This record gives sequence, structure tokens and C-alpha cells, in this order.
Amino acid sequence: MKWVLVTGATGTIGSAICKILSKKNYGIILGGRNKDKLNRLQKTLETQFQKPYLIFLADLRSKESIQNAIENLFSQNKISLYGLINNASETPRKKIITEEGLECQFAVNILGYHRMIAYLRKYFQPFSRIVNVASYWAGDLDLRDLQFEKRSYNNNTAYRQSKQAERMLTVAWAEILKSEQIYVNACHPGDANSKLSNDLGFGGFESPEEAADTPTYLIYSKDIEAVTGKYFERRKIVPDPFAKNKEEIQKLFSICNQYL
Ligand SMILES: NC(=O)c1ccc[n+]([C@@H]2O[C@H](COP(=O)([O-])OP(=O)(O)OC[C@H]3O[C@@H](n4cnc5c(N)ncnc54)[C@H](OP(=O)(O)O)[C@@H]3O)[C@@H](O)[C@H]2O)c1
Repeated sequence: MKWVLVTGATGTIGSAICKILSKKNYGIILGGRNKDKLNRLQKTLETQFQKPYLIFLADLRSKESIQNAIENLFSQNKISLYGLINNASETPRKKIITEEGLECQFAVNILGYHRMIAYLRKYFQPFSRIVNVASYWAGDLDLRDLQFEKRSYNNNTAYRQSKQAERMLTVAWAEILKSEQIYVNACHPGDANSKLSNDLGFGGFESPEEAADTPTYLIYSKDIEAVTGKYFERRKIVPDPFAKNKEEIQKLFSICNQYL
């Protein structure tokens, strides 16, 4: 069985991702922070698709929670990972400082993606695929103020910064994991009405299934075998201005490594 771990599986796009990949015969590990929601989703999918689903219970705000969830998953199940879809993100309207003392969007959207790849690295097999669900709604990254200590917090700005960072980290990880034949790409999903999109003040004109199309395509498509370090929209590679500045990418990667 090819196992794919999907974070934010209980969310709008995440649950659609799980359904699409279920139809394609992958084993799905449902990532989430809310045990009841995860149990309900697991039950629904097991009934619908008649196969077992694993659960990855972690609050991505916390390094310890991520590490414990990985320990639980791999000590209880003899599996190796084929795929990881880093999809969980949040964008609280008011600034939240996590228990680790980090600004929440930096912790979840940036470090969450980075930590998942770093800590899961040893469980991937050759030809594995990692997908970072980012956005076209990205920009204004300030490496000297990643946690809004100098700038006043605005959830939209912090979100756009985090989505730029995810696209930059994609380039860095792709370079590092190439020799292990692990391929890393980023994408814009689609615009679907969700808690997150509402927190940003958007609605969303696409269905969850439409929004899940590109993230899932990047897992199953044979057309992109060995493609790595790219940014996709609607299944197509789009030139990414944030992939150009290698020095900035390296700086961001080094900063994130300090939190591992
Ligand atoms: N919707 C859009 O139009 C749109 C556009 C561009 C990009 N995206 C990207 O698509 C991805 C999915 O977004 P969505 O629209 O589906 O949002 P959503 O419905 O709000 O789902 C977000 C998911 O992330 C989980 N999550 C949030 N904080 C977490 C934490 N600290 N630890 C663990 N899980 C956490 C949520 O868990 P709970 O269920 O427990 O809250 C939920 O499952 C995001 O990366 C987003 O940036 C979305």
C-alpha cells in the first residue's frame, strides 16, 4: 500500500484531497488536531471506501506534538511513506502566540511544513512525493521580522508571507532531497469557501473537489515523475518569482532549521 499523509484532513480542501486519493487506491493517513473530528472522518471514509485509514493526531503549532505523533504513527505501524501533503494552515484574525512563544502563522504555516518534512524524511522511500499546499496569494516576506515583532500584525499579511515562505522552502527541500529521489513541489489549490478563506475575508468560487485537484494530481500523476522544486497552478508549472533569490531561500531555510 502506498501511504500518503494529509495534514488538515478535516478541513475543506483536505477532506476532498482524502476522498480523491482514496478512489485512486492510496492508503491515507488523516492528519488533524481534533480527535473527534478525525474519528468522525475516519468512520465516514472507512464506510464509503471499505478500507482502513490511519490517524495522525498533532497540533502543528507545537514541535513536541508533531514529534509525538510521528513516534506514535511509526512505532504502531510498520509503514513507509509514499507521500506527504502539507495542507494544514491557519490565519487567526488576532495575533496568537503559541505555547512555544511563536507567532501562530509562522509556527503552523511555515515551521509546520518545515518540521513535517524534516522529521518525516527518514520514513520516505525513493520516488516519494511531497506537496506543499501554498497559494498564489503570497508575498511581503520579511526575513528580519518573520513573527511580526516590528510590523503590526495583520492576518492577511502574515498569511501571504507564510505562503511565500512555503514556496521558497519547497525549492530548498527539493534541492536537498533530490539525491534521495524524494520530490517536492508546491501549488495553489483553488479558491474554495472555508474557515481559512473566510478568516481572510474571501469567499471561494470553486468546489472543494476542484480545489483538491492540483494537490492530488501532484501525488498520482505519471506526467511529473521526478519533477521537483516547482510551483503549480491548475496542474501546470508556473514560473515562481519567489524561487529566484537563492540567498533569501537559504536564509529562510537556516532560520527554520533553528526551530527543529
Ligand atoms: N480555501 C482557499 O480558497 C485556499 C486558497 C489558496 C490556498 N489555500 C490553502 O489550502 C490549504 C487548506 O485550506 P482550507 O481552505 O481547506 O482551510 P480549512 O478548511 O480552514 O482547513 C484548514 C485545516 O488545517 C487544520 N489546522 C489548522 N491549524 C492547525 C494546527 N495548528 N494543527 C493541526 N491542524 C491545523 C484545520 O484543523 P481543524 O479542522 O481542527 O480546524 C483544518 O483541517 C491551506 O494551506 C490554505 O492556505 C486555500
